[in-house]
Amino acid sequence: MDLLLKETSKIIKQSNFTIAFTGAGISVESGIPPFRGGHGLWNKYDPQVLDLSYFLNNAEHCWTYIREIFYDFFADAKPNDAHRVLAKMESNNLLNAVVTQNIDNLHYEAGSKTVYEFHGNSKKLKCLKCGKVYDAKDIDFANIPPKCNNDGEILKPDFIFFGEGIPHDAYADSFASAEKAEVCIIVGSTGEVTPASYVPRTAKQAGATIIEINPEETIFTSAITDIHLKGKAAEILNQLDELLF
Ligand code: APR
Repeated sequence: MDLLLKETSKIIKQSNFTIAFTGAGISVESGIPPFRGGHGLWNKYDPQVLDLSYFLNNAEHCWTYIREIFYDFFADAKPNDAHRVLAKMESNNLLNAVVTQNIDNLHYEAGSKTVYEFHGNSKKLKCLKCGKVYDAKDIDFANIPPKCNNDGEILKPDFIFFGEGIPHDAYADSFASAEKAEVCIIVGSTGEVTPASYVPRTAKQAGATIIEINPEETIFTSAITDIHLKGKAAEILNQLDELLF
């Protein structure tokens, strides 16, 4: 592994444009379970609660689970070393952007500036009728479903549900950065969800070197990965930190 880490550090230092593509795995060491795998959230909860059409017809039922998963569970999660090393790489011009599938806001909280949130952000809620945006910390989650104080309509978390389109700017910025990337560092993603998983594939097609940080092999590993740093995100990125700085 040491040789791979040294090789990776050299590649990153020589790169003129590097992006990170992160998934749920980077937040596992912040206490947030992944969606898939042994302890995945989808083993415990029915993903239907995040299906847009089901939500629109069963808002109260869905909000019971959405509150438990994304506001009770996630509320106190803090960035871990993996988020912090990526932010440090950005402030030292070794990383140009983070494209994240995560909605937990932890990249921003770790100090990253250029973050494209492909699936939105759970810290905001939006009125389904008038579009008024609320900050999650101003919502009383004892009364669900939360309602708009403008028109009484139900609020929806400002992250995308299954069946919903990707936020336009995040989509455009993510693929534009992938097209320019000389290196793409994939951290903690199965690569099972599209169109997000096309971002690293686009980088590969544009000639980027693909570095993958994950304790497991994924569908990326055999398809596009050049260097697989097998291990946990915080552990691997701390080791990379020592070589980069
Ligand atoms: N460090 C790095 N990777 C880890 C760690 C860790 N400590 N723990 C688990 N992983 C890896 C797992 O091996 C797996 O490959 O993180 C990945 C988590 O996969 P998923 O739960 O499928 O997460 P992700 O790929 O981000 O899912 C994409 O699916 O449900 C939707 O919108 C949701 O954004 C999510 C999308």
